[in-house]
Amino acid sequence: MTVLVVGSYNQDHVWRIDRFPQPGETRRGLGFSTGPGGKGFNQAVASARQQAPTAFIGALGEDALARIARELAAAEGLDARWQVCTDTSTGSCGIVVDAQGQNQIVLDLAANERLSPEFVAAQQDLFDKARVVLVQMETGLAAVRAALAAAPAGCVRMLNPAPVHADADAALIAVADLATPNETEFADLLARCAGVTITAETIAAIGNAELHALCRRLGAASIVVTLGSRGCFVSHADPTRWHDTETHYRLPAENVQVRDTTGAGDAFNGALAAQLARFPAQPLRDGLIQAGRAAALSTERAGAAVAMPTLAEVRARFG
Ligand code: RIB
Repeated sequence: MTVLVVGSYNQDHVWRIDRFPQPGETRRGLGFSTGPGGKGFNQAVASARQQAPTAFIGALGEDALARIARELAAAEGLDARWQVCTDTSTGSCGIVVDAQGQNQIVLDLAANERLSPEFVAAQQDLFDKARVVLVQMETGLAAVRAALAAAPAGCVRMLNPAPVHADADAALIAVADLATPNETEFADLLARCAGVTITAETIAAIGNAELHALCRRLGAASIVVTLGSRGCFVSHADPTRWHDTETHYRLPAENVQVRDTTGAGDAFNGALAAQLARFPAQPLRDGLIQAGRAAALSTERAGAAVAMPTLAEVRARFG
């Protein structure tokens, strides 16, 4: 096993709609589907489909959704360890996707918030086999901290701060070898960790040197700010650690027909973790290109975990 993802599992309920309703307005949906989601599970599926042996640690209720989760994890070939919470439900999520492929999400984290640091730490055998440990913020932060603390020496500690937890602080971000916020999360982290006020919408237009300096205000050794259709920005304290040559650079996004952006960030993070685990001597730049391709392809499909592309699909599309 080379990638270990610790994070959330949700059952996603997705409605397609022409445009988002206004407060108090009822709109007819244009179609409904339900399937597996949760940032942690999506990222684990994305990693496994890029052919990195992948394990997953998460929490479930004791309900019908939990049975589905176990079956799906097995079908994806994940080595999954589930903490069972008898006093709450499996995580669930309502997603509305408009005609432009943008989404609005309502989330009940339920069991995900109960994932305990003790349960995480008890899976030390999985940590010992990991080259990359990947966490998000859709569980309680104690579980996130426990996962980063259990990562063995030499392993990449990768933190996707999505969505930024109300209690996230500079000390947590500083533990990460690689942090991957989107624009909104980056602005939030800058405010709470460095006292810098900046709006998410302006980030993509900031010059490279200034954006690099802002990234350096957060404690993580390397930061990749994902910018949606504008690609990503990379900032290193030490590029040689990742076999890169530049301290900071931008990469463009692939040009695709966007249908549903749900889970695109998860495709990116899972695929990047897989690349880092499979090719530890490869420049990070190359891993990011592959991750960007996987993310782009995921937006051409509806759904979250089910939309994660395989390695063969990414190769067939982009070479
Ligand atoms: O990143 C997309 C995911 O966010 C969805 O699958 C949903 O479950 C929410 O956690």
